[in-house]
Amino acid sequence: MDKQHHLVEYYFEASAFSWEIAPGKYMAAWGFNMQVPGPLIKARKGDTLILKFKNNLPQPTVIHWHGIRLPSSMDGTAEVQKLVEPGKEFEYRFQLEDAGTFWYHSHHNETVQVAKGMYGAIVVEDENDPVADEDKVFVIGDIKPSDVLKLTESSLSSPTPIIKEEELSHDMLLINGKLVPNISMHAGQVERWRFINSTNAGCFKLTTGRKAFHIIGSDGGLIEKPVKVTGELITPGERLEILAGPFEEGETGNVTASTNLGSTTTKPSIQTLATLSILAAKPSVAVIPETMRLIEPLCTRDAPVNRHVKLSVAESTGNGLKFMINDDVHINDQPVTVGELQVWEINNVSGMDHPFHLHGFFFQVLEINGKAPPYTAWKDTINLPPQTKIKIAWLPDNRPGIWMYHCHILSHHAAGMMANFEVIEGSKPYVPLLSAHHHH
Ligand code: C2O
Ligand code: CU
Repeated sequence: MDKQHHLVEYYFEASAFSWEIAPGKYMAAWGFNMQVPGPLIKARKGDTLILKFKNNLPQPTVIHWHGIRLPSSMDGTAEVQKLVEPGKEFEYRFQLEDAGTFWYHSHHNETVQVAKGMYGAIVVEDENDPVADEDKVFVIGDIKPSDVLKLTESSLSSPTPIIKEEELSHDMLLINGKLVPNISMHAGQVERWRFINSTNAGCFKLTTGRKAFHIIGSDGGLIEKPVKVTGELITPGERLEILAGPFEEGETGNVTASTNLGSTTTKPSIQTLATLSILAAKPSVAVIPETMRLIEPLCTRDAPVNRHVKLSVAESTGNGLKFMINDDVHINDQPVTVGELQVWEINNVSGMDHPFHLHGFFFQVLEINGKAPPYTAWKDTINLPPQTKIKIAWLPDNRPGIWMYHCHILSHHAAGMMANFEVIEGSKPYVPLLSAHHHH
């Protein structure tokens, strides 16, 4: 067992560049090290990440580390650090305490910066990870049609849109920075696929061809036991880890994203995220484990609620909509105390989906509309469909400071559906948040 903890160092520069999303099709991107998504950060559980960052964008930015249990000062929001101005640098440094799939993204002017490509994946590996034939990361982004360009050699300085008029009405989905790429794998094998929904607003159900797959992980790493499904919802901010396959030789299919599933007014639409090619059969070393981890409940389902969070949408005077928390926009919520169990009821009284995201801490979902969720997971983002009430529990461990929660549909966040709150030191003893029990 390698108990040594290492330093993992990266240098990121944010800048504007042209990114080829498909042969001959480009977008006017903003991103890290001229890539969309930005470089994959890979580490082992317990490693310390040192990320030297330089901003060469024409506007300020800041990087948020979505799902990482770091100190408040490293959370990468405008509330805990000064924005990194054009030409300036900042060094992020924190320990990666949990294994799993996480991500980073701009947390300033997000509706523009994230849509232009300011996001990327973080994979933290662990010695207890299930054995798969391959481990792949799929970062799903969406781009605004207005960012799509065509560049030819003669017109490098004056790009013009090449996407057809009718395609310009909705955002397009990219997977690892490409429009409908091909994913290939060998027949007979089982791969671990880590999906991250980095889109601005895409709530969709994922499928892998016509095959069932096993869900093995969520926002905060592995779940207890694999769950076999034919499709699973993933909303902005969430991660979904699956074991894909085994497929048969010559099998075809697509990785798809279906939207508007619950809507009564709009009909479901199915978009192809990627095409799938199944290559010649190869032997497999993968095991679909029976048990992966024990997630001890923080409390019982009937634990008393100590905070109510209401999500609502209303017309605002002038134009547009107000996206509110407890009937107000951009609120400051009450502080919470270190070591004091939090049981929150979150009530979406609006007619829209709102993926609720808590910074810096994982929670357990106790109930969705009065029922236990289908499986237990550590979450940092959970979707609330229209008219849905959920109950979550979380424990503020010893990381005092300013934190926040918000809807991860970035335009809703920007329009007010967010709250800052403080975690304050208290007299209660510190209890470790995540249990480290593993089974083989
Ligand atoms: Cu992934 Cu406050 O965000
Ligand atoms: Cu929302």
